[in-house]
Amino acid sequence: MRTLIRNGTVVNATGRLTADVLVDGETIAAVAAPGLFTEADNIIDATGKYVIPGGIDAHTHMEMPFGGTSSNDTFATGTTAAAWGGTTTIIDFAVQARGTSLLSTLDKWHAKAGGHCAIDYAFHMIISEVDDNSLKEMAPCIDAGVNSFKMFMAYPGVFYSTDGEILRAMQQATETGSMIMMHAENGIAIDQLVAQALAAGYGDPVHHGLTRPPELEGEATSRAIQLAKVTRAPLYIVHLSARHALAAVAEARNAGQNVFAETCPQYLYLSIEDMARPDFEGAKFVASPPLRPKDHQADLWRGLRTNDLSVVSTDHCPFCFKDQKELGRGDFSKIPNGMPGVEHRMDLLHQGVVAGEISLERWVEISSTTPARMFGLHGRKGTVAPGADADIVVYDPAAKQTISALTHHMNVDYSAYEGMEITGKVDTVLSRGSVVIADGAFHGREGHGQFLKRDLSQYLI
Ligand code: URP
Ligand code: ZN
Ligand code: ZN
Repeated sequence: MRTLIRNGTVVNATGRLTADVLVDGETIAAVAAPGLFTEADNIIDATGKYVIPGGIDAHTHMEMPFGGTSSNDTFATGTTAAAWGGTTTIIDFAVQARGTSLLSTLDKWHAKAGGHCAIDYAFHMIISEVDDNSLKEMAPCIDAGVNSFKMFMAYPGVFYSTDGEILRAMQQATETGSMIMMHAENGIAIDQLVAQALAAGYGDPVHHGLTRPPELEGEATSRAIQLAKVTRAPLYIVHLSARHALAAVAEARNAGQNVFAETCPQYLYLSIEDMARPDFEGAKFVASPPLRPKDHQADLWRGLRTNDLSVVSTDHCPFCFKDQKELGRGDFSKIPNGMPGVEHRMDLLHQGVVAGEISLERWVEISSTTPARMFGLHGRKGTVAPGADADIVVYDPAAKQTISALTHHMNVDYSAYEGMEITGKVDTVLSRGSVVIADGAFHGREGHGQFLKRDLSQYLI
């Protein structure tokens, strides 16, 4: 099966050109001068459109048990929604439950995702319990293609690791060439603030944000960076939201340390004011770290331009307003933490291009090319180039759309961006050469997506 995408503007992180793209089977056969190839089984006219590598969302949580419930997208529904939004690879998190091993966790996540994904997928591993066995199991996880390990400085009693435990895991990461990903918030201090707020009668959602101040994200980020420096481990700060944390990352990067960070669309477009919406509506925006005051957003956009923020992922972790977010009515600490977003990352970041915050090439870089390199997928994913998997999005930069829960495909009863008008829209999506989105319809299938065994990071300095 050969597909020819004609007359589009091919945009890679390295530049743009008017070219045709020939797909043969599952891979890209050629990026050629317009008109060089004329024959194919399927011809897609991309005149006036961008032809970009499929998005890679390096931080999602499908079917994740958390906060007394479970995130509401299955691997089937979540990856279908991702495809609608131009994302053709997700990297989800396998979550070690306390008292269980990393390898049994991996088996469990393979069983959940295998045969259900509409697009390709990979895993990071969450280490909830650092002991000799977990540390020993990092190496076989790496052999199995899972070579990035998330740890938590937040959530004492759930996922939290002490500094000593983090240090030991970092030593093991250095030894094995793998990456530590850090949820950097000072959970011990936060838990005190939460208890004090609740005791004083403050139960509304906005207090989730007020009890997790940016200084405690900055402090934890600095501490993680120092631990990484001592152990010489590569460190990736997940879902960075506060300028305090960004300053710490920038300082480490200026000093030449292998420290990287991602932010998420919600921190670029939403703010703590959304958490203060009346009638418990603020619960829709409860995630950790929390949304920050609006003035942090300009710093985050600048960080994206300077590469102190290298990646934008969604941290997609959808809980329905009804019955799930509602678990925390009157007690914000019981609201399941997480927000939906996997479907709209590419569109929301394209708004950054429209607004002049980032270039077209940078859009592709932070949403696809760098995640591919960061997490060992370069060569297959992240670039429109001969030999790469034909994960391709034809994107119409002039189309208009309005985000709404009425039209989105995520399995969640609200949108954090309800009513937001977007310039740009996914037109056609190919996943390993197969058309999965075209003409406003889903043409993919559950089970098309394959597990990606990842190489070690190709982004280290
Ligand atoms: O609130 C969040 N971010 N939920 C998902 C779990 C995590 O910490 O990434
Ligand atoms: Zn986290
Ligand atoms: Zn997350």
